[in-house]
Amino acid sequence: MTWDGPTAAWWQGEVEGDPAYRRDVDPLLAELLDGVVGGLTLDLGCGDGRLLQQYGAVGVDVSRDLVRVAAVRGPAVVADVGHLPLAADAMTAAFAVLVLEHIADPEPFFAEAARVVAPGGTLAVVANHPVFSAPGSGPFVDPGDGEVLWRWGEYFDRGFSNEPAGTSSVVFHHRSFGDLLTAAADAGWRLERLVERALDPAGDPLLAAQTQIPRLIGAKWRR
Ligand SMILES: C[S@@+](CC[C@H](N)C(=O)[O-])C[C@H]1O[C@@H](n2cnc3c(N)ncnc32)[C@H](O)[C@@H]1O
Repeated sequence: MTWDGPTAAWWQGEVEGDPAYRRDVDPLLAELLDGVVGGLTLDLGCGDGRLLQQYGAVGVDVSRDLVRVAAVRGPAVVADVGHLPLAADAMTAAFAVLVLEHIADPEPFFAEAARVVAPGGTLAVVANHPVFSAPGSGPFVDPGDGEVLWRWGEYFDRGFSNEPAGTSSVVFHHRSFGDLLTAAADAGWRLERLVERALDPAGDPLLAAQTQIPRLIGAKWRR
């Protein structure tokens, strides 16, 4: 599976067409980066570069097609977040929006971010909540009383699921919350803020009936 070709085209249509990115995802990142000013900022998995100008960031992404679009908006290069073409301590902050769940192992992600962000620097991550990414998880309606409940699926194990993406599909990797936070701590990241959010109920009629199902996480670490 690659993020080039039809998947790149799908993602551009998705992010432009779905108001949830502007309504729920982007404000969470802004909240996490509030007060983080100055220096060089890295957008890990920058996609089409839609956030580069806002944060004056340099982007890296594994998709050649998306980097071609991103490079019109700001500096962007093709690279894997697990092997960054940057010197140690080169950046003052890094962020990743909806990227962590597409990476097979979180350890190289956190380790590389810790290598390139200077001591005292920030890492901000917005991602799908692990409750949402567990294979076999999903909403279901209690036939007894109509209440919308959540099936946890295979929550405790690492795993993945393939989700349709236009004519293609994308892989969502899953690890439990504990697993994820331990991977970050092992790489030397000190947690400063952890936010769990539901999506605006307007976006999903089924979930509108149950607003206590977490959908997004936002985490801010300090090196
Ligand atoms: C859902 S998109 C999010 C894009 C962007 N962060 C945004 O919010 O618009 C996921 C992005 O992660 C990138 N990606 C996936 N695996 C990657 C990796 N190992 N290294 C770098 N980028 C990766 C994809 O190419 C894609 O652009």
